[in-house]
Amino acid sequence: MSYVPQLPSNAPFTPEQRSWLNGWIAGVLAAQARDGDSAPAEAAPLVPVTILFGTQTGSAEGLAKKLSRDLQSKGFESTVLGMDQYAKADLANCERLLLITSTYGDGDPPDNAVSFWQWLNGEAPSLSKTQFSVLALGDTNYEKFCAFGKAVDARLEALGAKRIADRVDCDVDYDAGFAAWSAQVGQAFSLSSSAAGILPADTSISGQDARSTSDRQDAYPTGTKANPYSARLVTNQLLTTASAAKETRHFEININGLSYEPGDAIGIVPENDIALVNAILDHGGWSTDDELRHLLLHKHDITNPSKDLIQAVAACAKHDDLTALIDPARSADLKQWLYGRDVLDLLQLLPKGELSSTDFIALLKKLQPRLYSIASSLKAAPSQVHLTIAQVRYQSHGRARNGVCSTFLADRAQGDTPVPVFIQPSHGFKLPTDDTKPVIMIGPGTGVAPFRSFLQERQATGARGKNWLFFGEQSRMQSYFYKDEWATLIQNGVLHRMDTAFSRDQEQKIYVQHRMTENGAELYRWLEDGAHFYVCGDASRMAKDVDAALHQVIEQHGGKSTDDAKAYIAAMKEAKRYQRDVY
Ligand SMILES: Cc1cc2nc3c(=O)[nH]c(=O)nc-3n(C[C@H](O)[C@H](O)[C@H](O)COP(=O)(O)OP(=O)(O)OC[C@H]3O[C@@H](n4cnc5c(N)ncnc54)[C@H](O)[C@@H]3O)c2cc1C
Ligand SMILES: NC(=O)c1ccc[n+]([C@@H]2O[C@H](COP(=O)([O-])OP(=O)(O)OC[C@H]3O[C@@H](n4cnc5c(N)ncnc54)[C@H](OP(=O)(O)O)[C@@H]3O)[C@@H](O)[C@H]2O)c1
Ligand SMILES: Cc1cc2nc3c(=O)[nH]c(=O)nc-3n(C[C@H](O)[C@H](O)[C@H](O)COP(=O)(O)O)c2cc1C
Repeated sequence: MSYVPQLPSNAPFTPEQRSWLNGWIAGVLAAQARDGDSAPAEAAPLVPVTILFGTQTGSAEGLAKKLSRDLQSKGFESTVLGMDQYAKADLANCERLLLITSTYGDGDPPDNAVSFWQWLNGEAPSLSKTQFSVLALGDTNYEKFCAFGKAVDARLEALGAKRIADRVDCDVDYDAGFAAWSAQVGQAFSLSSSAAGILPADTSISGQDARSTSDRQDAYPTGTKANPYSARLVTNQLLTTASAAKETRHFEININGLSYEPGDAIGIVPENDIALVNAILDHGGWSTDDELRHLLLHKHDITNPSKDLIQAVAACAKHDDLTALIDPARSADLKQWLYGRDVLDLLQLLPKGELSSTDFIALLKKLQPRLYSIASSLKAAPSQVHLTIAQVRYQSHGRARNGVCSTFLADRAQGDTPVPVFIQPSHGFKLPTDDTKPVIMIGPGTGVAPFRSFLQERQATGARGKNWLFFGEQSRMQSYFYKDEWATLIQNGVLHRMDTAFSRDQEQKIYVQHRMTENGAELYRWLEDGAHFYVCGDASRMAKDVDAALHQVIEQHGGKSTDDAKAYIAAMKEAKRYQRDVY
């Protein structure tokens, strides 16, 4: 039987409210399990609600749309908009505002929230008419967990808006948090609207209604996060030489019937490494438990230990050092201690057979899908998705470790093994709709993936705009991915310029941003001609350095002050001419 989360027993609700909210949660989770793009229900819209999302990879947008469907079916007139699509002037008159946002970089806003956030912190008016609530998406593996959602929540309050339901901060496994939050905001808006006589009491939300609405949905489509499409891997090729320091691979997956656009990503639900699963079963004394084996292989995260597991092991093993690290003030030390350790390392701190399998499984996180930028265009590779993936393999604490998904594809997904996938539409990382516009693409390492897709698409559609690719890797001889394809595209007049930066072919590192500054005058001319500027790949260092180089090029070759260069780039972002897909 599947587990349906309930409100905590200490939550401040009357028994009637609790029963109503638990019903709503069950209904929302049932709808999520279907996860379809169902048509809005027919109920006449009565009460306006604005739902704004801040997203990088689409999760917040998906939840915003789900919430909107739920609210519409209950008599609310909900409008869903990206934070970059919202006419900010409307905010002062917005009476019901719900925000769902992720956090990126190092506690920063996702790209589509940057200008909204600047405005909210600057010229935003008093929001005394506004009732609001925030759902923050994040990942507890990051130091600044849900930092942007927290900042938005605090800022709205400071501007005089009234919080109608407490912010909920969600880890990557956000379904239950979303269900609980949406129940609370639905209830709060419903009650306040009924009190104001806007929403008749008999149209207020009930858990029963939520369930029956979702039951009315037609057969849900395949290829969603909750219901992935079962694809097959058909090609698995090395892009680097056997002696290269890094192993990067090209994969081709058959995805009959699924559709995507250049710039989209694909979510892959991996299978864990059976050798690691067996080692865990062996240490726990559960080797004969086939159901547990299945759960560890397919459902649970056995590489990133949860906080609950760490606490349980520290207490059970009376491990004073680990217990001390659980103190929130020591989170950086805990992170360092965990680096290169997995669930088996934790389990091995306990004597064999110390935990029951039921207790153990309850202490694990859910296995999460991994996202990959699609490296093909359907026009060039019908019914396929191509991927460019760096393999995560390293030694730690005397044991070889493997990245779950990269090595699932490289080592374990052969033949008939199902590869569960879903398309994750990109938010804004798209080719210009005007095909005469020039395009500049900065794609070191696996960051080149979406640009292979862009170029295939532009070739297939005969786009007239010019294309300039910057590619960087460690070595021309060992890691020049897709070298022959770029040469053919140059020959065919599709790729007008290509600059490479091989970082380890000489003593001094040469990176893509060095090539940008060397060619700054021409790069600036392309920008002045309306070029769209794209960056994909490593977020932690490369994307920041490329951004700094872009500022430098505009200052130097546009003859601009630092502030004017900043304004130039802000205008590019506003016009969607500066797009990033960084991870
Ligand atoms: C929108 C988006 C697009 C992406 N596109 C691509 C793409 O096109 N190609 C691509 O290759 N990746 C891409 N990624 C990254 C990808 O999603 C995965 O994060 C990556 O493949 C690693 O997943 P994994 O399951 O193999 O490794 P995991 O099992 O998730 O392991 C990775 C973790 O291992 C640990 N680790 C790694 N090296 C070491 C070490 N030496 N010592 C100790 N610990 C270590 C780190 O904690 C790291 O976080 C993208 C990510 C996003 C969000
Ligand atoms: N968080 C980190 O510290 C870190 C580091 C590396 C990779 N990664 C992640 O590893 C995954 C795969 O990486 P990848 O194989 O795609 O490529 P990558 O490791 O990003 O390397 C691609 C090329 O970029 C160079 N590079 C390194 N630092 C750079 C910088 N600051 N600016 C510009 N170029 C820089 C690399 O040079 P050198 O290798 O010679 O320096 C290499 O030539 C990605 O998910 C990436 O985010 C993370
Ligand atoms: C490169 C990168 C940086 C991230 N930085 C943070 C962070 O600083 N804090 C946090 O809580 N979550 C962070 N996250 C996690 C995302 O917020 C989380 O995965 C969220 O569910 C994504 O939602 P979205 O698809 O709507 O963007 C980061 C994720 C990535 C890929």
